[in-house]
Amino acid sequence: MYTVPQLDDYSPASLEKAFDELRAAFDSEAQAPLDAGWTVFRDRWLGRKSGILTQVNDQWLKAAPPEAKREVGRRLNELKRIIEDGVEERRIVSVNVAVTGSELRASAGSVSVHPVDVTLPGIRRPLGAEHPVIRTMNEIVAVFRAMGYSIAEGPEIETDYYNFEALNFPPNHPARDSQDTLFIAGQEQKPPRERLLLRTHTSPLQIRTMEKQPPPVRIVVPGKVYRHDTPDASHSPLFHQVEGLAVDTGITFSDLKGTLDHAMKALFGSSVRTRFFPSFFPFTEPSADVAITCFKCNGRGRVGETPCRVCKMTGWIELLGSGMVDPAVFGFVKSNGYDPEKISGFAFGMGVDRIAMMKYEIDDISLLFQGDARFLEQFA
Ligand code: DAH
Repeated sequence: MYTVPQLDDYSPASLEKAFDELRAAFDSEAQAPLDAGWTVFRDRWLGRKSGILTQVNDQWLKAAPPEAKREVGRRLNELKRIIEDGVEERRIVSVNVAVTGSELRASAGSVSVHPVDVTLPGIRRPLGAEHPVIRTMNEIVAVFRAMGYSIAEGPEIETDYYNFEALNFPPNHPARDSQDTLFIAGQEQKPPRERLLLRTHTSPLQIRTMEKQPPPVRIVVPGKVYRHDTPDASHSPLFHQVEGLAVDTGITFSDLKGTLDHAMKALFGSSVRTRFFPSFFPFTEPSADVAITCFKCNGRGRVGETPCRVCKMTGWIELLGSGMVDPAVFGFVKSNGYDPEKISGFAFGMGVDRIAMMKYEIDDISLLFQGDARFLEQFA
């Protein structure tokens, strides 16, 4: 262990040797493992009372003959800088040890206290995955975009007028009951058609779009809708729909059939067949529900010997509502070029969540909305 020697000879050669020895001692101690901690090292070299630098100051500089004072002072200052830098480096190394567990040397003068140990494994950033509902919705929309449809979107808080009245649901009409509407409270003062509700379907965008643009129209409307349903494995108060509307001159029921038949084949595979059967919606006339052959069992009702769970052995899956736009609906936008004597159109609407559940064989709708990473990462 180095101790500061007595200096009798202040000749340049002797001074050089003394300072070189001191420097060598410091360098070798600065390389030694940091067993005792960096403050012990600091105090040994820089301690005010009896640190080595103080001893050198007292024993070498103060005792120096006048003609050597200048040279000793210069060398001492140089040494002081080196020791201070070295002590700072030791401090940084000890912080590194605390943070990373390994001695990583920072260069003296760089005072980063957030060291980067390039040998550590990187931090894994989990990649997000498209939610199965969003993915299904995007797939549906893409099929119609390829046929030249545009995307329309609109408010989830809707007026009674757009959600019901302009879609030919007259006030107090029993068809409204089937929609299990969630109304916004405290609007008794407003005229009925201005009262706000959570939209129960994406159909209001039919009217909103026709108000904005004259025919022709070809749109799909993806979005969230809300109903006052008691949650169970297949019901959720929030779910998703994709609406469609095509209006032009000379649009017929066979356009509706051809378009939806193509869309179902594009979505579920070319071997899928469609079936249209009569239904009722206030805003379409005639109306049709559309079923497709089960994409799991190919319409057979069984997969090998096992009963098909997807179609409950019927071979058919009811997938969407559709129909020719009722002239009464055009009546609400007649002044914008929608004269039912001159134009016609078809509309359709489908539930996205149910399609996603069938596609991915998810048996509880609530799984879609819990945000549980263990569920969602299966779709990554
Ligand atoms: N809006 C209907 C519902 O939510 C679905 C629907 C049926 C939409 C027929 C349509 C349609 O555009 O033509 O129950």
